[in-house]
Amino acid sequence: MRVPFGTVTITDKAKELINAALDAGRVSSGRLVREFEKRFASLVGTKEAVAVSTGTDADALALAVLHDFGARRGDEVIVPALSFVATGNAVLQAGFTPVFADIDRKTLNIDCSLIEDKITERTRAIMPVHLMGKPADMDRVMEIAKRFNLYVIEDAAEAHGAEYKGKNVGTIGDMAAYSLYVAHIITTIEGGIVTTDRSDFSEVLRSLRSHGRACKCETCVLNINSGYCGKRFAAAGSADIRFVFERAGYSAKMNELEAAVGLGNLDIFGAILEKKRRNLLSMMERFRRFSDFLYTIDEEPYEKIGPHGFPMIVREGCAFTRNELVGHMEKAGIDTRNLFCSMPTQAKGFEFLGHRAGEFPDAEFIGRSGLHIGVHQDIGEEEIGYVMDTIERFLTVRV
Ligand SMILES: Cc1ncc(COP(=O)(O)O)c(C=O)c1O
Repeated sequence: MRVPFGTVTITDKAKELINAALDAGRVSSGRLVREFEKRFASLVGTKEAVAVSTGTDADALALAVLHDFGARRGDEVIVPALSFVATGNAVLQAGFTPVFADIDRKTLNIDCSLIEDKITERTRAIMPVHLMGKPADMDRVMEIAKRFNLYVIEDAAEAHGAEYKGKNVGTIGDMAAYSLYVAHIITTIEGGIVTTDRSDFSEVLRSLRSHGRACKCETCVLNINSGYCGKRFAAAGSADIRFVFERAGYSAKMNELEAAVGLGNLDIFGAILEKKRRNLLSMMERFRRFSDFLYTIDEEPYEKIGPHGFPMIVREGCAFTRNELVGHMEKAGIDTRNLFCSMPTQAKGFEFLGHRAGEFPDAEFIGRSGLHIGVHQDIGEEEIGYVMDTIERFLTVRV
């Protein structure tokens, strides 16, 4: 049997939209991207959504907005030490310094009791990550942010459909960044999107994704209406507003073909989420029998995990390593991924910040001992049974 990490569903509607866009020759960002943004915003429950090229761009552009709102280059953003490296990379790409806080081994999310000690005069934002779709402790994050006058940007890359105390993840902070890469519930194949209630933020986001352009009208920014734009030469000095750049920007637009895939996916979002949740909860339940050796996350009564994968962590003092378990599962045809790493101490790209091994013990522990596997819509009870039997066989000979 093969249990792949993820699958992608391209719906018939998506195929029709793709063909229509190709036939019309309208493939760069336009109507479909706008429709996708509107539908994504309404699904999450925010006023605005701005689609970009990747989830990493979504993180970076959301942070870069802060330069228009008082932040300076080199200011600090607090992030959890454990995440996919994109979180830390995006902070650097946006011109900020990542300040890492260790995580809670149980939830895999930022340990909020460590945040206050990390705050300095240069701190501008906190970026919690809802790892594996399990919501970070947003009440505490928001309370600290309010007290210290900091922005909150949720890295919701892995948390489509997650809920925290009755609110959708992605509506709690000032902005939220999602990945739409194939491994995620809503996908555009490659892609990302930022949600926010603030139209002053979304306006800057639309400029940032297009090189920092100054023009703000729908014709130019959204590329929806073709034809001459009356405001084109209305700027001071009669400059062509399409070539006035107000801020240092990015080239991070989504194209129509990607938006078409996303629109098709939005139609089946509810069904995919439900299937993934059923798989996650079933795996959690069956996995309990390995609890002397392996553990996973729990779902608390006040939250709803928007499953990204099924995480498992080898307990300390076990007679086997994570890599031995991974080798056994991979040989049995089950795709695995590490459960990321402690960015400051286990990823070379952050070495220049001068952190030392041992500074982030919980993130480092997960970096050494964690893995995750798929819970996607094409996995059913048979595959789950196979995964559990495979783990059982591994444990039987090891312990
Ligand atoms: C927590 C987290 N943040 C950011 C990203 C970046 O997303 P992308 O791969 O679309 O750039 C990912 C990727 O899945 C992620 O897991």
